[in-house]
Amino acid sequence: MLELMNITKKYGDFTAVNNLSLNIDDGEVFGLLGPNGAGKSTIVSMISTVISPTSGEIKVDNKLLREEPIQIKKVMGIVPQDIALYDTLSAKDNLEFFGCLYGLKGKKLKERVSEILKIIELEDRKNQTVGEFSGGMKRRVNIGVALMNNPKLLILDEPTVGIDPQSRNHILETVKKLNKERGMTVIYTSHYMEEVEYLCKRVAIVDHGKLIALGTKEELKKNSQSKDKLTVTYTKASKEALEKVKNVAGTEKVRISNNQISLLVDQRKRNIINVVEDIRNLGINLSSFKYEEVNLESIFLQITGKSLRD
Ligand SMILES: Nc1ncnc2c1ncn2[C@@H]1O[C@H](COP(=O)(O)OP(=O)(O)OP(=O)(O)O)[C@@H](O)[C@H]1O
Ligand SMILES: [Mg+2]
Repeated sequence: MLELMNITKKYGDFTAVNNLSLNIDDGEVFGLLGPNGAGKSTIVSMISTVISPTSGEIKVDNKLLREEPIQIKKVMGIVPQDIALYDTLSAKDNLEFFGCLYGLKGKKLKERVSEILKIIELEDRKNQTVGEFSGGMKRRVNIGVALMNNPKLLILDEPTVGIDPQSRNHILETVKKLNKERGMTVIYTSHYMEEVEYLCKRVAIVDHGKLIALGTKEELKKNSQSKDKLTVTYTKASKEALEKVKNVAGTEKVRISNNQISLLVDQRKRNIINVVEDIRNLGINLSSFKYEEVNLESIFLQITGKSLRD
């Protein structure tokens, strides 16, 4: 559906996107992750033809964007990071206005507007001016605008930043549904790991304009040094036994306090169950254990050396 081939974007001496290549398949929900200033919006702007790459090529639906921008724009829906709506117009009028720009008119336009109002769940507020809407509602209208031409490829640039939890859930569910029911290909840009984990099978991590990791969560986990966390609660243990926990194979960062032992396990080296067995065999009586699989957040931290939220 989308191919980025050695894309570079320079602003003077500054390289915002650096020789980035990426393929996104039909029907995929793809996550684009990166800290502030990583180059995510620059990538989205190049795909949406707002800016052109300094070098490299982009293909959408097997067509070169440089050669057939108008054709390609017809199959794309872009939800930009900055909301672009007319505050003095109602939700319905905004959708109609942008629908006209896509060439819709008459009955078809009216039908599409009501269909979209249903999808974004703003039918009961359709006649209210957008200026009176909350951030989350505006964002939903913005998504509605991108859906007006029934795109094959939907690109959302941080659609849930600074909005209420209800709108956030609604947006996540809408993306899921559009993908499942219509086979829409989605590129989802976000700071929020849990959203990307929930929605996307494959993710790309970008930092300083470079692609630094690409794959499914499992693949990223395998390639990173990230470890899973095991916490066990014990009822009885001798001092000597607790001392020996540090020697259990395949574990590190052992912490003991309040009848709890927490440690990191490298699952490539040791099975978590065997680690629990080893601890019990030291004569430590366990009452419970909790296992937390490494998440994208810690993988990200591992790869980039920084947190996504700073
Ligand atoms: N028009 C421009 N002129 C000069 N530098 C720019 C321009 N647009 C973006 N940049 C720079 O390019 C880099 C990438 O910016 P971009 O907006 O793509 O990041 P981002 O990953 O979307 O960040 P955020 O998470 O904050 O939205 C930043 O360092 C930014 O300052
Ligand atoms: Mg951005």
